[in-house]
Amino acid sequence: MTTIHEAATLLERSLRTRRDILGRTRTGVSRDALQRLSAPATASPAPAPGIAPDSLGAIEETVRACRLCAHLAASRTHTVFGTGNPRAELMFVGEAPGADEDRAGEPFVGRAGELLTKIIAAMGLSRSDVYIANVLKCRPDMPPGSSGNRPPESSEMANCLPYLRRQIAAIRPRVLVALGKTAMAGLTGADEPMGAMRGRWFEFENIPLLPTYHPSYLLRNGSNAEKRKVWEDMMLVMEKLGMPISAKQRGFFLSAN
Ligand code: URA
Repeated sequence: MTTIHEAATLLERSLRTRRDILGRTRTGVSRDALQRLSAPATASPAPAPGIAPDSLGAIEETVRACRLCAHLAASRTHTVFGTGNPRAELMFVGEAPGADEDRAGEPFVGRAGELLTKIIAAMGLSRSDVYIANVLKCRPDMPPGSSGNRPPESSEMANCLPYLRRQIAAIRPRVLVALGKTAMAGLTGADEPMGAMRGRWFEFENIPLLPTYHPSYLLRNGSNAEKRKVWEDMMLVMEKLGMPISAKQRGFFLSAN
């Protein structure tokens, strides 16, 4: 059977012969096009339309070398790119690494991260099933000697958003969850209180996006009523993904306090 490679080589030869016979210098078929067609088919296939050509590793390398926010590049210990399943159907996006994440080079490893891990477990998943990242890949710097974390500036998030876009394009999750108002603002520019946004679907690059409270909010306001709101958001996510929800899961955090 004649392969496309063989056919293209034959075509190139016959066109060369024809050109020689006619004494013409142009065949109407570009040399590049012919060489592309007749190249042995060893290279990896071209990406299908709409599929990002970037690998997560390549994007992470670029992030590691990034100096767009010079002050953050100077103060960071590690860039914090993201963690989890590179083929995840569900991706969580937080705002920025804190001190723990800056030390570890991994998102959501501090107290808020422990709570996020429990929320994911309540859904019947583990951190390795989902993908977790932040809008900002560097810890927002703090004045020397001060502890705690500050929210990212919108200019810092604007610098970093193209990396997140590429990351999302590479993973292609079916559902995105924005953790907190700042993450939602970084992704969409939305400037509403979380109480008004949560429970409603938005879109980011044609991917359904659900905003919910940041786990740190639940650490500060840990009543069952507030936990239930986040849990109802997670059940919306599970429904969107076609995940079964047990009667037990439906009842989580329904009791008062
Ligand atoms: N808060 C975030 O938004 N991201 C983290 O990685 C940790 C805490």
